[in-house]
This record gives sequence, C-alpha cells and structure tokens, in this order.
Amino acid sequence: MRPSAVAVTAPAKVNLCLGVGPLRGGYHELATVYQAVGLYDRVSVTAAGTTSVSVHGDARLALDDVPTDDSNIAIRAARLLADHHGLDADDAAVAISIDKGIPVAGGLAGGSADAAATLLACATLWDLHTPREELLALAGELGSDVPFALLGGTAIGSGRGEVVTAVMTRGDYWWVILESPVGLSTPAVYAEFDRVHAGRKVPAPEVPDALLAALRSNDVESLAATLSNDLHPAAFRLRPELEQLLADGRDESAHGSILSGSGPSCLFLCEGRAHAAQVAGALSG
Ligand code: C5P
Repeated sequence: MRPSAVAVTAPAKVNLCLGVGPLRGGYHELATVYQAVGLYDRVSVTAAGTTSVSVHGDARLALDDVPTDDSNIAIRAARLLADHHGLDADDAAVAISIDKGIPVAGGLAGGSADAAATLLACATLWDLHTPREELLALAGELGSDVPFALLGGTAIGSGRGEVVTAVMTRGDYWWVILESPVGLSTPAVYAEFDRVHAGRKVPAPEVPDALLAALRSNDVESLAATLSNDLHPAAFRLRPELEQLLADGRDESAHGSILSGSGPSCLFLCEGRAHAAQVAGALSG
C-alpha cells in the first residue's frame, strides 16, 4: 500500500577545499571535498490537489528569502521526478512542507538538501523504485550540490560539483559555523571570481592529496592546514568583513577557518565538542 505522506531529512554541507577552474558553459570546473554536517532540513510530502510548498522554522533563518512559487527547488525536484517517470500532473501533485534547520543562502546547500530530500520523498510516496544512478542524474540537473546531498558523508565533487565519489574518513570533525545575517548570492560570487581572474588563464583545479590523507588519519591539525577555498578573494571583495571574522576564529584558537562554499557562513575547525563550544562562545561575544 502506498504511504499517504513521506518525510525525509537531508544534511547541510561544507566544502573542505573548493578548487575553482575555468568557466565552461556557464559553470566553473570544480575540484572539491564535500562534508555533510549535523544541520538538517526536514521535507514532508503529502498527496494533494495541486503542488505547493510551505517553509517553516526559526525566524532567524531568513525564511522569507526562500521562494514559495514554482521556482522553489523542491517543487522543481518533484516535477522533474514526475516527468522522468511520465506521471500525470494530477497523480503527481504534492504539498511539500520544508522544516528548515539549515541557514538560507549561507553556502551550506540548504536548497540542495531540500531538492534531494524531495526527490527521495516523492520517489517513495509514488512507489517509483527509481534506481540510484537515475536519482543522482536528476539531482545533477537540479543543481551542482544536489547529488552530494543525496549521498551525504564525505565525498569528492568534480565536473561542476555534481559528479560525486565517496571518500574514506576516520573519526568525527567538529565545526563551529558562524552564520551571517545577510546571505550571499552564489552566482554573484562566481561572477566576482571571473572579474578577479579576468585576462588570466585559470588552471584546472585539484583536490590536495594532503587533505585526503588528513581525513584518512583523522588528523585535525593537518586537515586545518589543507583547508582551501578559491572563492575567498571574490567573497572578500563583496564582503570585506568576512576575512577578519575568519582571522578572529583562528585568534580564538580554532585550528583552521574557511568560508563554506561561496559563503557567507564561516567555518572554524575545532578539536572536539568542548573546544568547539569555547570557540563558539568567544566568537558569539
Ligand atoms: O548549480 P547551481 O544551481 O547550484 O549553481 C548556481 C550558480 O552558481 C550557477 O548559475 C553559476 O552562476 C554558479 N556556479 C558556477 N560553477 C559551478 C557551480 C555554480 O559558476 N561549478
């Protein structure tokens, strides 16, 4: 029997390295390592007369910035899956309810998490048994970070970020995430990257071997030393205060600091729970 409603949670991501290469066909070639973190959006889908989306959560999460019309990525995900399986629009209408735990427009891939969760939830609601490879391909059509949100864990992203391969890691990693009250637009940061590199050849990006070795050995200090993000100069030009915030975290004893993706969320790598609580306390002051 088909369920009448299905709920799926999907995690936020951080990028441990973000190598940005040349622009091709509107996207930049990427070499990145994604890591899922313990912040989640919960998406529930229920059969309905028409497709709609509603967004709920803490008021501090800038929920008003999430579109609730047909441009919402969760609605696009539901429609893409229905089209892929040739479902009739009436049979595939769903009410999508998003309970947000991931900051909006923070570089933490909250929209991508919603898209991935919607794909899985609708595939279950409609009893589709969509093969994993097809789900990943549909996810890649929706956005560069969506396939990783289906996979979770830690993974290398290549292509424009949508080609994901799981990587081996040991241990837990403790990140302090400093949200910004004002989001940053991903296309705006990439456009600034192009201005920073105008007239210069951008080399093909690579994932540093030392970063993968640090993840295999759960060596937090080595991992901190290999964190990198090629979007930093562009993001700092748009939001100069971010560079100081990252330095403040290191001054407060974080092992390393980096922007998450295109920002503006700042990430601070810590030794464990107590150290993370100490750094978070100092930064929030
Ligand atoms: O794939 P996604 O929809 O998340 O990308 C949003 C925007 O970010 C793109 O339209 C593009 O401007 C920029 N982008 C890029 N290169 C990538 C990924 C995203 O330039 N690899």
